[in-house]
Parts: sequence; structure tokens; C-alpha cells
Amino acid sequence: MLEIVLATNNAGKAAEISRILGKKVKIFTLPEIGFVGEIEETGETLAENALIKARAVACKAPGKIIMSDDTGLEVDYLAKAPGVYSARFAGPDCSYLDNNKKLLKLLKGVAKKERGAVFRTVVAVIYPDKNVEIYEGKISGSIAEKMSGVYGFGYDPVFIPENKRKTFAQMNSDEKNSISHRMKAVKNCRMGIKRKYAV
Ligand code: IMP
Repeated sequence: MLEIVLATNNAGKAAEISRILGKKVKIFTLPEIGFVGEIEETGETLAENALIKARAVACKAPGKIIMSDDTGLEVDYLAKAPGVYSARFAGPDCSYLDNNKKLLKLLKGVAKKERGAVFRTVVAVIYPDKNVEIYEGKISGSIAEKMSGVYGFGYDPVFIPENKRKTFAQMNSDEKNSISHRMKAVKNCRMGIKRKYAV
């Protein structure tokens, strides 16, 4: 069994990533390895932030494979904002609703063809030999004119994936995960891990 520490406190995210990586990989979250404390995401790119998180954990878990992910929503009309600032778009302690309201306000009256957006996930892995690999996944789509749907989290109620007629929040988790940015990044990561280990 290959053991990977995922630099997250989020058990739901760990379960989703664990399903993609398969039964021969065991994922540990930060609470499970006794890691406490906040990791400040001060990077200017998704890859920098993913690496900051992975490095903070690597020094506390020597010899383990460390994996970390960072995601951002890049909106064409906003010159790829909020991007790396997606979590705190509407301010330091904002909610998902605050972020969605701010985004819809900024795009009010903007034509459909200018509402293009990309969800991008970067996964950073630090291997026990200190080698660092970066894997990426993205999905293109557009920003809806209003929020719709009750599933998911974050910007799901306003993001319509390309070739779909509903938002991520109108899809159940299986439907979203089968096409999502995170799934593609983790699948790329799985291929990278398979090249190194027989899992
Ligand atoms: P994180 O890097 O996974 O913490 O994501 C940063 C921010 O991007 C989150 O706070 C959400 O607002 C947004 N986000 C990340 N993944 C998703 C997703 O799958 N759907 C909608 N929003 C997301």
C-alpha cells in the first residue's frame, strides 16, 4: 500500500481524491498525521501555493509522499481573476455566497460570449527522494447570469461547464467529478505516481 499525505483538513476532498487514486493508495489528511496550524497561501500562482502547502507538510512527515492541490477560477472578462484569490475574492472572511454575488455583480450586463471561464487545479507532489512534480487539470465553461443548483460548493452555482446546460451545482457529485478540473489533475497525478511505483 502506497501512503500519501494530502495537505488538507478537508475529509470530503480526501475521499474524492482517494477514490480517483484507487485502492492501492492510502491517503492521510493533516489531522490524521497530527499536523496542526494554518498554512498561509502567499504564492502568486496556483503552483506556488500548492508547493507552499506541500513543503510545509513535508518537513513534518519525512519519508512520506506529500500531495497538495490548489484551485482557481479564471474569468476571461476579469483578466483571469479571481484565479489564485478565488477563496477570498470578496474579502478575508467571505463566504461562498459573497464570492458568487461579487462575481455576478462584476459580470452584470456582460454578454454571454464574454462570460468564458476556466476552473484550473494544480496538484503538487513531493516524493520521498525530494523530487517535486506538478500536475494540472482544467475545465472550460462560462459564468451563468444567476446562481442555480444546490450541490457542490464554492463557485459551483455560477459555473456552467462547456457543452452543458446546467451549472456544476445542478449536477450530483458523480456527474461533476467525472468532468471536473480536480479529477483531471488527480488523474494526471495518478499517472505520474504509476510511472514511479507499481500501483
Ligand atoms: P482550494 O484550492 O481547493 O481551496 O480552492 C480555492 C477556492 O476555489 C475555494 O474556496 C472555492 O471557492 C473555489 N473552488 C475550488 N474548487 C472548486 C470547485 O470544484 N467548484 C467550485 N469552486 C471551487
